[in-house]
Formats: sequence, C-alpha cells, structure tokens
Amino acid sequence: MSTGKGLALVNLDESGVDRDFRADVLQGLSEAQKAIPARWFYDYAGSRLFEDITRLPEYYPTRAETEILASRGAEFAQLIGPGRAVVEFGSGSSVKTPLLLSAIEPSAYVPLDIAGDFLRASAAELSAKFPGLPVYPVEADFMRRVELPQEVGDLPKLGFFPGSTIGNMVARTAVDLLRTMRQTLGEGSKLLIGMDLIKDPEILIAAYDDPAGVTAAFNLNLARRINRELDGDIPLDALRHEARWNDDYARIEMHLVATSDIAFTVSGRQFRMLEGESIHTENSHKFNRRTGNMLLLAGGWTPVQRWLDDKARFSLILADATIPRSAP
Ligand code: AVI
Repeated sequence: MSTGKGLALVNLDESGVDRDFRADVLQGLSEAQKAIPARWFYDYAGSRLFEDITRLPEYYPTRAETEILASRGAEFAQLIGPGRAVVEFGSGSSVKTPLLLSAIEPSAYVPLDIAGDFLRASAAELSAKFPGLPVYPVEADFMRRVELPQEVGDLPKLGFFPGSTIGNMVARTAVDLLRTMRQTLGEGSKLLIGMDLIKDPEILIAAYDDPAGVTAAFNLNLARRINRELDGDIPLDALRHEARWNDDYARIEMHLVATSDIAFTVSGRQFRMLEGESIHTENSHKFNRRTGNMLLLAGGWTPVQRWLDDKARFSLILADATIPRSAP
C-alpha cells in the first residue's frame, strides 16, 4: 500500500518546497495541541518504514486481514459475483490484492493512488500476475470524486479499501470519504473495506510501540522530513515516540513528546515545546460491529456481510451502495 504523495500532484513553490506540507506543518505547530496530518508520514523513507511495520510480530492487522482474504474466497465469489471492475483505493498490496482478484473473476482492475510511482509499480506487478486482466491505473486523489476510465464505465464496480486506512480519519472525514467513494463507484456498486477492531489496549499499544523501535522510527521520520524539506532544526533527540489509547474515541494516538523544554525553527518560524508537550501525529480508530456499521451507513453504504480472522482481531466488511428504504 502507498498512502504517499506522488510527484505529479504535488504543489511545489519556486524553491521546490511542497506548499501543502509547509502550510499543514506551520498551522499544526501553531495550535495549542500541536498536530500534523498523518498523510505526511509517507515520503520514500516513511513508506519503506510502513512496509517494515506490516511485517512486525506485534503489528497484527496486515496478517489478520490477509488471513481473511485467503480463507473466504468462495464466499466473496458468491456474494460479489464475477465481472466487476475492482477499484482499489490506494495502489494495491502485492499480497492482498491478488487474493481478492483470484477469488472473484473480475473484468478489470483500477488502482487509484496519488503517488504515481507506487501506482505504476504495483499496476505492472498485478498485470504480470494476471495476464488476461485489463488494468487501468488512475493517478488521482481518491479523497475527491474520481472520473473512472471509460473502459470500465458500463461494468458494475467493487471498491476495495483494505488495511483499516479508514481508521486514520476522524469520523467526519471518514464519512465524507465513504460518500465520495459511492459517487466515484456509482449505483449498484459494492465496497469491501477493512476495519481494525477494538481490543485489549495492551495489544494495541504493542502494535503501535514495538520493542524493535520501527514504529518509533516511522513517527520520528516525520520530524526528520520537516527538518530536511522545510529548513527546520527540530532536535530529534529531544523527542520520543508515544502510542496512547484514547478510550473516548476508541483510537490509538501517536505523539512525538518533548523530553525537555525545546525551541526550534521551521521555514523561518519559531516554535517552543515544554517538557512533556507533544505533537499529535496520527489517529488509528478501532471499531466494533455497531460503530463500523454506523460509520458505513452514515457514508451511504449498507453492510451485507462481515468476516473476522480466527483470533477476532480484524474485520473485513462487504457493503452495498443500495440504501434500504426502512421506516420510519
Ligand atoms: C496505514 N494505517 C492503516 C496504519 C495504522 O495502523 O493506522 C498506519 C500505522 N501507523 C503506525 N503503525 C501503522
């Protein structure tokens, strides 16, 4: 998966600085609770570190979701049927996507991603594995409505949004995205979406604060990126990674916490952090059956079937774009 920014859609100024990155960082560091959107994790180094996270023994979501995809193929085939265009939101994983495609006999595969380099690489890999399947990669920001290639215009669609990436959005943004996906996919479409489940906070904290320090490196890479791209001098050795369980919002939060009072400059602007103050860098919401269903319904999708892995850590939900007319 890539959740990164590609070259083509980046908004650079005269000196090659990404304007959107700078605006998000300067605004986020000026707030009472400093916060930077998680999408900025995924530069090249961040994307590599995320791949490493997915292989950690403590980070169960990737393995749990893969287990569901590998074991439920016959049910997917029965409920989804052949002949759909599979539209993947994100550029596709070399393991998960082939499992789905080989289960359901699709007529086309359309990966959507903002990062053109990741998109082209994963589309080429998929084409090699499925020689008879037409693949139409689309470089686009799927947070907005996307015009799909005309070749798949008449085909029924299956949206695929694995990984519980929906959990990285606050509820309002998640609902907006689900509605936008519905517009992109059209009437009669279905959606197969991964949602990580609420569980013992100790298991969750271990998944987001592994003893090998890979998630810490992923989190700190954001500060390193700010220093490199935005002419910053954030003292990296005065920040430590922290994963917190926020029970009110059922989410893991990642923070970079100052271990002493610090002052630093980013793009010519000065900032201070007191010891113990943090920069909030990510939310990873977790769901149960009811909250997952509620989110999907709010986004215009009716849940049809839900699968869990053997240890009931992760869910994969099939939903339908048809809204039932129910009273009152
Ligand atoms: C991409 N996303 C679903 C991951 C998650 O679990 O929220 C990102 C991640 N952050 C820390 N570890 C993994």
